[in-house]
Amino acid sequence: MQGLKRLEYRGYDSAGVALAAPGMDKIAVRKKAGRLVNLEKEIQRSPLPDATVAIGHTRWATNGEPSDVNAHPHMSADGHIALIHNGIIENANTLKFDLQAEGYTFVSGTDTEVAAKLLGKIANTIITETGHPDLFTAVRRMARMLSGAFTILAVDSRQPDIVVGARHDSPLVVGLGKGENFLGSDVAAFVAYTKDAMELGQDQAVCITNRSVTVTDFTGHEITDSHRFTVDWDASAAEKGGWPSFMDKEIHEDPAAVADTLLGRFAENGDIVLDEVRISPEVFRSIDKIIVVACGTASYAGMVAKYAIEHWVRIPVEVELAHEFRYRDPILTPRTLVVAISQSGETMDTLMALRHAREQGSRVLAICNTQGSSIPRESDAVLYTHAGPEIAVASTKAFVAQVVAAYLLGLYFAQVKGTMFRDEIHQIVKQLKAMPKKIQWVLDTQSEVVEKAAKRMLNARSFLFLGRHVGYPVAMEGALKLKEVAYTFTEGFAAGELKHGPIALVDEGEPVVVIVPSARGRNTLHNKVISGIEEVKARGAFTIVVAEEGDPDVERYADMVFWRPACPTLLSPLVDVVPLQMFAMDMATLKGYDVDKPRNLAKSVTVE
Ligand code: AGP
Repeated sequence: MQGLKRLEYRGYDSAGVALAAPGMDKIAVRKKAGRLVNLEKEIQRSPLPDATVAIGHTRWATNGEPSDVNAHPHMSADGHIALIHNGIIENANTLKFDLQAEGYTFVSGTDTEVAAKLLGKIANTIITETGHPDLFTAVRRMARMLSGAFTILAVDSRQPDIVVGARHDSPLVVGLGKGENFLGSDVAAFVAYTKDAMELGQDQAVCITNRSVTVTDFTGHEITDSHRFTVDWDASAAEKGGWPSFMDKEIHEDPAAVADTLLGRFAENGDIVLDEVRISPEVFRSIDKIIVVACGTASYAGMVAKYAIEHWVRIPVEVELAHEFRYRDPILTPRTLVVAISQSGETMDTLMALRHAREQGSRVLAICNTQGSSIPRESDAVLYTHAGPEIAVASTKAFVAQVVAAYLLGLYFAQVKGTMFRDEIHQIVKQLKAMPKKIQWVLDTQSEVVEKAAKRMLNARSFLFLGRHVGYPVAMEGALKLKEVAYTFTEGFAAGELKHGPIALVDEGEPVVVIVPSARGRNTLHNKVISGIEEVKARGAFTIVVAEEGDPDVERYADMVFWRPACPTLLSPLVDVVPLQMFAMDMATLKGYDVDKPRNLAKSVTVE
């Protein structure tokens, strides 16, 4: 149950457990629709026996509505086997049809139940063939019959000392304990018990007992070189630690996420060293185009990267939503670097995009927050963000960490390609190192006005978010945050587009959030955004503005202001996004919503 609690952020529309112990005839199962707390109540009502092995699941429905009967685990027809599954089994209907023809009946609307019934059948066939149960062989045999994406775990009451798993295009990590072993979708499931972990490769199966871990491919060949790693964060990092919500805690970790992502990335002479990036400087020098692939918040971090990297390195950077990427036949060459940005490292759309890029001969570098996850594992190189575990579904600290990693990559490129003077790079690094304090200033001084704005806007039915240059992705991100957690219709767009259509949406009292760049340096940009504010104001908009401390033009036109301390324009997303994160959280909290687990969403989107 502790493990499930830590994984609940990945899916929370139903949950269940299955247990086995010597002497038990059938598997013991409890499952319930809704949050984990419902399952806890069910177990209190109907306690479970002691057990030696167990599997548990929290679900984000892909097929079959969230209900008690559709919750996992699902059982084999004879009740000896229980199975849980992440992903989508694409040939489930065909398999089901065949099983039905043999007399099998189904109670749920899930593809998972098809796998459970199929596994039960295979397991019994093996018993007939060999005279004894062999769940490991049965799971491998079944895995070869499935198409689509899956992580499957199973237990069998006839072998109450093993748990068997298999994965294809869906994550599974092994936790190596003392006298106990674990399997989890990510390390959060078992980090309270062990920090020693092992990656499981694509199309591999695993069998754990309390003392052993055996890994094979789907045909049964043993794999002995699985990569082991030590989880670099503590179980307490995935606890609320007194904060009202994970989102609140994680927003307040923005400064640390930036500082920690910068840590250890510089030589004594101030040069950038990206040790973990296993791409040689020669290859870096040969790169003539970068394509960032990502989804949601990570894609907005990619958009910030475009502005910075193009400016510093003078090579074209495209940013592409990962799910669109491979379907448009992108131009990829060995001189293209594809940068896959992902907090979870498991987003299926991003994983598929990077596979496509590698197939076409391009190199892929992952910017990722999760050790041992699929995206860094399948990339040529990785630049880890050190934001620590992000539990709230709405991404906050991971965004600022991704932006910092992208800056580091851009500056490293500039260093290797010689497109900037060393002094210039060192100057920006110095400014970057000053950013955590500036973010802290926003957290310390702006939270009151942000909350006031949220209270005032509580009944607003829609919002427009405007930004230009790096303020544009910040506007998109601010709008996304509000959609996800406060369920408010928002539209984020480039401020220059205003007159090309969106201004028609502005009516008396319409809230418009504007990111205003500093008047220093890029004055024209500043003036143009100010003109935009005037234009919406003239049409009755209520303006909430994010701007540099003491900007006199802003004071004139804004109804409410979230101030930022002075900082270079290219680095300003790191501070500008912070009040917008708080704003979305405050709106959702005031509306009484669960900010950590917004409806319909899951933290890792492991299906396409
Ligand atoms: C962010 O608040 C969202 N929950 C979502 O857009 C997320 O950023 C996106 O699904 C990508 O996830 P990833 O970073 O784990 O790949």
